[in-house]
Amino acid sequence: MASLVIDNVKKRYGNTSVLKGIDIAIEAGEFLILVGPSGCGKSTLMNAIAGLEDVTEGRILIDDQDVTFSSPKDRDIAMVFQSYALYPNMTVAENIAFGLEMRKVPKTEREQEVQRVAELLQISHLLNRKPSQLSGGQRQRVAMGRALARRPQLYLFDEPLSNLDAKLRVEMRTEIKKLHQKLKTTIVYVTHDQIEAMTLADRIAVMKDGEVQQLGTPQEIYDNPANLFVAGFMGSPAMNFIPAKVIESGNTIMLELTTNTIETPTTINTIETPTRLPFPNAESLQSHIGKEVLLGLRPEMITEPQPHKAGLEFTVNSHVNVDVVEPMGADTMMITRIGNNEVNCRCHPSYNMVVGATCEVMFDTSKAVAFDIESGQRLD
Ligand SMILES: Nc1ncnc2c1ncn2[C@@H]1O[C@H](COP(=O)(O)OP(=O)(O)OP(=O)(O)O)[C@@H](O)[C@H]1O
Ligand SMILES: [Mg+2]
Repeated sequence: MASLVIDNVKKRYGNTSVLKGIDIAIEAGEFLILVGPSGCGKSTLMNAIAGLEDVTEGRILIDDQDVTFSSPKDRDIAMVFQSYALYPNMTVAENIAFGLEMRKVPKTEREQEVQRVAELLQISHLLNRKPSQLSGGQRQRVAMGRALARRPQLYLFDEPLSNLDAKLRVEMRTEIKKLHQKLKTTIVYVTHDQIEAMTLADRIAVMKDGEVQQLGTPQEIYDNPANLFVAGFMGSPAMNFIPAKVIESGNTIMLELTTNTIETPTTINTIETPTRLPFPNAESLQSHIGKEVLLGLRPEMITEPQPHKAGLEFTVNSHVNVDVVEPMGADTMMITRIGNNEVNCRCHPSYNMVVGATCEVMFDTSKAVAFDIESGQRLD
């Protein structure tokens, strides 16, 4: 296991800047997850760490050794690519054992290791097949097995589970977590899966357009996103953004929004009632008094009224229109509209929500955040 330092790494293809100065320091044994929209530069960064791609500027250090100009084989990295390449003429077992053979690991030890990872990845019955005789998900597991059979300084995984079915994916996620807890290897892991990112990472780096938007623990990223992009990217369904006016009320600052727009089919009447919500970090709104901000509230913070939370400092009940009801099993998502924004509320399945009618909801703003509308930065 080794530490990894990515120091101001830039990558340009001609005039296109793909990485615009990435700075990430990863401790030995740390599990870092890279997330970000398609094309933001995740794979490019992984290839740069592996040495498969030259960097235009900056340095890469593995265990304090500058490897910026070292060849991939001198970096002691095992990588599972997004498009995994297996050796087509070798069997699954030979593919998995290949790295060990190169390192002159004795045959019996190699065989044991192949058995171990094959069991872990549930591919024991496929060991004598060639890659062409495997499904996409099976090939991906072989590629994973090839990496796991080695004990490198650093693992790089680029969406290693993307081709697996949902059940296997969850199982593999748990296996990877166990593996990391047991071996304490340093891992950099790219995923599009929110739950994978939250459950596996010690820290998450959220990237956009070749830049790191925020680097923090999963909880920091979830609770205190640095800007609108991070807030909207992490979490499923995404954080709600609700237009709200910052007002002074007595000697405190509150957020005012217009919740219940009741459009009765018979009268076309609209009744708009302002709802005033307290805000945990009210001083941060001082400079925005009289202006609009975007209130950020996770769906689980807008629920059916909960008697045990009634009267708490940050809970306020109000009425909203029910636009859509989406049962999800454990909870039901109720979708309403506040201002011009769609708002997801996470309610108990037994709560009575009738499409087209209004219902009472409880806003819990104890973990609310607010964003400047123009810059998109969190106010704090
Ligand atoms: N050889 C190349 N020449 C020019 N542009 C390239 C080259 N390779 C990649 N790019 C561009 O660099 C950007 C980043 O690509 P990259 O593969 O790193 O994205 P990514 O974050 O891994 O996306 P995805 O989630 O879809 O895998 C993309 O816009 C891509 O088109
Ligand atoms: Mg990629």
